[in-house]
Amino acid sequence: MAKTMPWWTGAVVYQLIVRSYADGNGDGIGDFKGLTSRLPYLRWLGVKTLWLTPIYPSPLRDGGYDITDFTGIHPDLGDLAAFHRFLTAAHEQGMRVILDLVLNHTSDLHPWFQRARWAAKGSPEHDFYVWSDDPTRYSDAPVLFRHFESSNWEWDPVAEQYYLHRFLRHQPDLNYANPAVQESMLEVVDFWLERGVDGFRLDAVPFLFEAEGTRCEGLPETHAFLKRLRQRVESHQRDVLLLGEAIQPVQEAAPYLADDELHGAFNFVLTAHLFAAVAGGCTRQLEACLVQSEQAVSGVRWALPLRNHDELWLGDGHLIPQEVIQTIRVGLPQGQGHWLNWGINRRLAPLLNGDPRTNRLLHGLIYSLPGMPCLYYGDELGMGDWPGLRDRDPNRTPMAWTPDRNGGFSSAPDPLLVLPPITAPGYDYRVVNVEVQKQLQGSLLNWHRRMLTCRRLLPALHQGGFELLECSHPGALAYVRSTDAMTVLVAANVTGAGASFSLDLTRWQEQRTREVMWGCDFPPASPEWFVNLPPYGINWWLIGEVESEPPGPGA
Ligand code: NOJ
Ligand code: CA
Repeated sequence: MAKTMPWWTGAVVYQLIVRSYADGNGDGIGDFKGLTSRLPYLRWLGVKTLWLTPIYPSPLRDGGYDITDFTGIHPDLGDLAAFHRFLTAAHEQGMRVILDLVLNHTSDLHPWFQRARWAAKGSPEHDFYVWSDDPTRYSDAPVLFRHFESSNWEWDPVAEQYYLHRFLRHQPDLNYANPAVQESMLEVVDFWLERGVDGFRLDAVPFLFEAEGTRCEGLPETHAFLKRLRQRVESHQRDVLLLGEAIQPVQEAAPYLADDELHGAFNFVLTAHLFAAVAGGCTRQLEACLVQSEQAVSGVRWALPLRNHDELWLGDGHLIPQEVIQTIRVGLPQGQGHWLNWGINRRLAPLLNGDPRTNRLLHGLIYSLPGMPCLYYGDELGMGDWPGLRDRDPNRTPMAWTPDRNGGFSSAPDPLLVLPPITAPGYDYRVVNVEVQKQLQGSLLNWHRRMLTCRRLLPALHQGGFELLECSHPGALAYVRSTDAMTVLVAANVTGAGASFSLDLTRWQEQRTREVMWGCDFPPASPEWFVNLPPYGINWWLIGEVESEPPGPGA
């Protein structure tokens, strides 16, 4: 019998931070009660997969990626019962939920670390973490959070040894060479799967194992553990999505997508090229990246984010030309200080100078390229940020729901809020919010909803093949996504001027072409099929007849 497609085929992942999304009990902090009350919105928008950034108990020195209990819920957000009510409601509304799983490290306040520092050297408890008498060990491993740390080692006066931390000094790395660590983390996976979650976004997967003389990234032992993890989730006998975070060149990220390893991995290189294409008005590097990504892992297994809760990574100078990076930075409103550890800590809208055309262009691309598009909460509105906040907080501020107090996020007085809602010029929550944009037919929000509807109705965009078409215009890009039953053509213009060019559609000669969004007919396919796109324009067309009709204006 043919295997049915896993539930994430065609999924769009909506990423949200529970504490910044909706406050259900009026204490100023988003929580599961609030999130549950907003599920109808997410359903209305048309996203069916929710990725929650860490929800566990944590001192919050790194946005919750510093965990003190892998099987609990942070008390600010509720408890396991509240989580259960949320998950049940999400499932009842046809949604799937994936959790952030931080495998590489814990908080230094985690009981495992406290036990380790007091335990005898060489004991299994001590060996839960990576210790050394010599802070020059693994010196080829780069410091990742270079804005905050200058070394990967921190002296612990209790253990009288250094411990390894690839991220903040408050985040000691677990020692995966210790089988008890591996088993403990697999038990964490069992715990959440038994509670019904549908998958995991695996944080920082490259760094699990260390070896002298290497960058300590993507070592064979790390891949072997991830394969073990895959076997463990498969023992639960249902489809569980494993989506890995590896901020690496495509060739280095691809091995995580071996058939017996992870199902998906973010393509951050593509993200960088998408921004660079718009900043530089040229699609050639983007096209090369698309070809390379497709060759590395054919099919739709890349997850495609534009922005997330972290910095925008643009490579270390060899990926994107320096002058293009400068264009992106200089174009940013409100001055300097946005370059943090390895990228820019701003939200999508300010990065795009508040231009809704480029928001639509970039989302129109990720919604139609092969892969799993990721939408970061608030970007469907073009929400702004607060550049002065510490670390990556500028792009983690409360969701804007209404023009009312605190943007409808919370009824609490201002000083109690988790982070300040956006009142920056041009992005004030009294203007940029869900309630207002729902009512404005031409709003960004309604555009996203409509594109997501179109995407849902076009299986070629979920699992279809991908082919770039020859396009003579250096600032334009054209491709087809096709299955046996359907061909969707996409053309985009990344420049601020109009673009006219023709495409060779000989293969579909004389077949009907229809624009998808509004269903209107275009001239039949021909060897010189004329395309005219406005500045930053993008369009999707259906080629030929298909069984299911495009959505039509009322959908
Ligand atoms: C990647 C996460 O996305 C980021 O927010 C976090 O700081 C690091 N991993 C460390 O967990
Ligand atoms: Ca609350």
